[in-house]
Amino acid sequence: MTEEHRLRINALSRWYKTFGVDHVFRDINSNEKWQKKQEQKANTSTVYSSSQLCYDSIEELEKAVREIDCHLKKTAKRTVFSDGNPGSDVMIIGEAPGQEEDEQGKPFVGESGKLLNNMLLSVGIKRSDVYISNIVFWRPQGNRAPSTDEIALCMPYVENHVRLVNPRILLLLGGIAVKSILNTDAPISKLRGSKSAYMGIDTIVTFHPAYLLRSPGQKYLVFRDFILLKRLLLSKDI
Ligand code: URA
Repeated sequence: MTEEHRLRINALSRWYKTFGVDHVFRDINSNEKWQKKQEQKANTSTVYSSSQLCYDSIEELEKAVREIDCHLKKTAKRTVFSDGNPGSDVMIIGEAPGQEEDEQGKPFVGESGKLLNNMLLSVGIKRSDVYISNIVFWRPQGNRAPSTDEIALCMPYVENHVRLVNPRILLLLGGIAVKSILNTDAPISKLRGSKSAYMGIDTIVTFHPAYLLRSPGQKYLVFRDFILLKRLLLSKDI
C-alpha cells in the first residue's frame, strides 16, 4: 500500500461519508491494523479501502446515480447518465455534460457531440453502435471543469459502470477522463497513439472534441486515434 494510495483512500472515504453512500461500498481491505488506524484518524466507523460499488445491472446503477443528492445536481437541470448501446464493444467516456446535454439529459449531443459523431463515422462507426457516458453526471455551472471532489463522488459509479458494460475497448476523451480513469498526470500527447489497460480492458485516450473545436489543427491526431480504435475492433485477438 503506497502513501499515494492511502491518501486517495482517505479522501474517498471522507467523500463517501459526506454523501451518505458509504453503505453501498464493499470493504475489501484485508489489513485490519491499517484499517483500524484509518478509522481512528477519520473518526468514522467504516473505512472503505476501494471504490467497490456493487450494483448488478446498469438499470440499478443508473437509479442509484439519479438518487444521489449533491450540490452539482442542485444547479443542473438533468442527470446525464449515458446514451447508446450498452452491449457495445466500445465505451466512450468524456468529462461532464455541457448546456445542451443538461437540457436533453444525454451525453455528447451539443457541438462536441456532433464532432464526436463525425469522427466515429469517419472510421465507419455509428453513434448508435457505441455506448457513451461521462466522468461526472451533472453539468458544472458555467461549464467549468469538475472539481476533484465532484470527480471523487462520481468515480465509484463510473468504475461500476465500466465493469457492467465490460466493453472490449474503452475510449477516454480529454484530460479529466484520462486522469480520473488511468490515475495519471501524464499529458494526452504522451499517452495517445497506443493502448493502455484499465480493469483489463484495452483503453485508448485522445483529445476531447471541445479541444478540437478550439484547435482544429489537432484533428489529424484524433483521426489516427480513431483508426487505432477501428483496428483494435477489427482485430480478432482481443
Ligand atoms: N463534453 C463532455 O465531456 N461530455 C458531454 O457529454 C458533452 C460535452
